Amino acid sequence: MPTSPRRRILVTSALPYANGHIHLGHLVEYIQTDIFVRFQKLRGHECLYLCADDTHGTAIMIRARAEGRSEQELIAEMRAAHLADFNGFQVAFDHYGSTDNPSNRRLCAEVWGALRSKGFVVSRDVQQLYDPVAGTFLADRFVKGTCPRCRAADQYGDTCEQCGATYAPADVIDPVSTLSGTRPDVRSAEHLFVTIEALHAFLAEWTQSSGALDPRIANYLARHFLGEPLRDWDISRPAPYFGFEIPDAPGHYWYVWFDAPIGYLAATAEWCEAHGQTIDAWWRRGGDTPAEIHHFIGKDIVYFHTLFWPAMLEAAGLALPTKVRVHGFLTVNGEKMSKSRGTFVLARTWLDHVDPSSLRYYYASKISGGIDDLDLNLDEFLAKVNADLVGKVVNLASRTARWLEGTGLAEVYPDDGGLFAKAAAEADEIAAAYEAGDFARAMRTIMLAADRANAYVDAEQPWKLAKQGPEVAGRLRDVATVALNLFRQITVYLAPVLPTLAEQAGALVGGPIRSWDESQSPRAGLPVAPFVPMMKRIDRQHIDAVVAASQHAAPQEPAPTGGTMMDTPTHADSGEPLAAEPLAPTCTIDDFSKIDLRVARIVAAEEVPEAKKLLKLTVSLGGDATRTVFAGIKGFHEPAALVGRVVVVVANLAPRQMKFGLSEGMVVAASGAGASGVYLLSPDSGALPGMRLH
Ligand code: 2FM
Ligand code: ZN
Repeated sequence: MPTSPRRRILVTSALPYANGHIHLGHLVEYIQTDIFVRFQKLRGHECLYLCADDTHGTAIMIRARAEGRSEQELIAEMRAAHLADFNGFQVAFDHYGSTDNPSNRRLCAEVWGALRSKGFVVSRDVQQLYDPVAGTFLADRFVKGTCPRCRAADQYGDTCEQCGATYAPADVIDPVSTLSGTRPDVRSAEHLFVTIEALHAFLAEWTQSSGALDPRIANYLARHFLGEPLRDWDISRPAPYFGFEIPDAPGHYWYVWFDAPIGYLAATAEWCEAHGQTIDAWWRRGGDTPAEIHHFIGKDIVYFHTLFWPAMLEAAGLALPTKVRVHGFLTVNGEKMSKSRGTFVLARTWLDHVDPSSLRYYYASKISGGIDDLDLNLDEFLAKVNADLVGKVVNLASRTARWLEGTGLAEVYPDDGGLFAKAAAEADEIAAAYEAGDFARAMRTIMLAADRANAYVDAEQPWKLAKQGPEVAGRLRDVATVALNLFRQITVYLAPVLPTLAEQAGALVGGPIRSWDESQSPRAGLPVAPFVPMMKRIDRQHIDAVVAASQHAAPQEPAPTGGTMMDTPTHADSGEPLAAEPLAPTCTIDDFSKIDLRVARIVAAEEVPEAKKLLKLTVSLGGDATRTVFAGIKGFHEPAALVGRVVVVVANLAPRQMKFGLSEGMVVAASGAGASGVYLLSPDSGALPGMRLH
């Protein structure tokens, strides 16, 4: 049970750039922030979710120029698209601003004034690369070339992805402007700098001891930045630049990374204005009921949020973040999102084909509050969403609600063997997991409650009671009453993740779910509405459609970060599988060619009820050629989710008579030490059934 007093919690996600559409990678952050916010609201706290479009910088200026329109027109269009995408995924901001708004200009001037008055601003000339064809100085991300430290080719102008070095664009070897493809000149221009070293002691203390940062992040900052003097931060850009001109430095503009975080303040100010409050109520230091401030960010923008931003807040005398919650990147099927594989998926494309709730749940089930990358494995996605949400949660209601349509819930909540009370007692544990951002742990606990509820229904067999006539009608009503109460309790716990399901559950029985406490006591004697389908099964075809549409959509590249990456290698593969199963003795190419491996499409898949491990698959080798294969993948793959999948089969394996029928081949799959799954192989898209593997 929530015991803490009502907290005041301001929550932000990183402001998305206005020069690109929202994709599944962005959604890792927005969905997790939204879950956190919905959880806090359900617990009865005052919680504000604020965000805005990050509109300034060279990228927007160049794109607007290329499209022959104003930056304002472009950012208005992107804003509408972003809001539609967020709305589609039920990411519910309390306010969504824009860094180009007047409130942001005003607040930038205030923070700037504070920096100036403390003597933290200095000016000096900078040698910067200038693109004479495009007529502009080049932001770091518009320069590519060879890393001056490790000589890796094709690196951005400020950071080497190979060795992690950071450097000035003018130091890049053989630089090329990505705007025009020409070699830029080096020109001198005056820039303004914030002498962040003046705040070194404060930053060392805040990053290491305030509790705002995960220890891994604190260590990273200590190792990479705080062990030496902090470099002055180049905060201005000369014209032409799309941004705010610095009031006391005409011809100079605040660098986008100065006005972007101040966008958090501006969004607060705008919300406050609409709600009769002042920004002070949220960002003032100390006071009787100081607000908490939680920033959710990706690991690529750590230093902006843990060094520059707190330095700005400190200089301006504003409240410091309570927590900076850093997450990893999204991979799809174990790899970076890729246009050619169709895994660079825009939010809009997903919304066109697949229920967004399913992605919210899948992400929740994988997010544990750390900085590790999150893998969207499309097979696992299908299996998990169908098994958990349809097979466990909705199933509870779909197979019991109808018995209560006329009568409503039993007048008194029946004896359920302690099931409701057990799940009610888990409320604190689930809440603690949500609070820590360990949504995966919350989902596991909730699904165990769903398992217990389903075991109860399986044991009571209401469908049999329904056939037995009036003498067991009371029992039937009791069993269905228990099942619907357990269903509703589970949907209370899932409400931060699945708001639509929570609404549907409330409409079915008990009215809107408004509070976490509704998990604590069962209902009785209430009407039950006719059951309406919820969370339909997702078929492989829907996912295939997303992948196919993403291959054709040719979306923009993910925005380069311009920031220092956390030094966590994405592909630090364990040696465990190979060590556990050493390589087989050498074979010749002739040995290999005896095995006829073919691409095949699964056209039917069904359970073999008598077999623990087997699924019966019908695979097509193209045309009329099909094979029946018994594959030992039951429990790892949902049969329905397999239909349509393109896999690899051993097509010339001698047929084998099994107890359940003739097996005419083998589907190739990986398994071994280090993971418990059985992983089917899929060729690159474009491979056709019948093609041979060489
Ligand atoms: O990395 C990004 O996508 C930036 N647009 C995030 C800005 S967050 C904040 F500081 F404004
Ligand atoms: Zn390098």
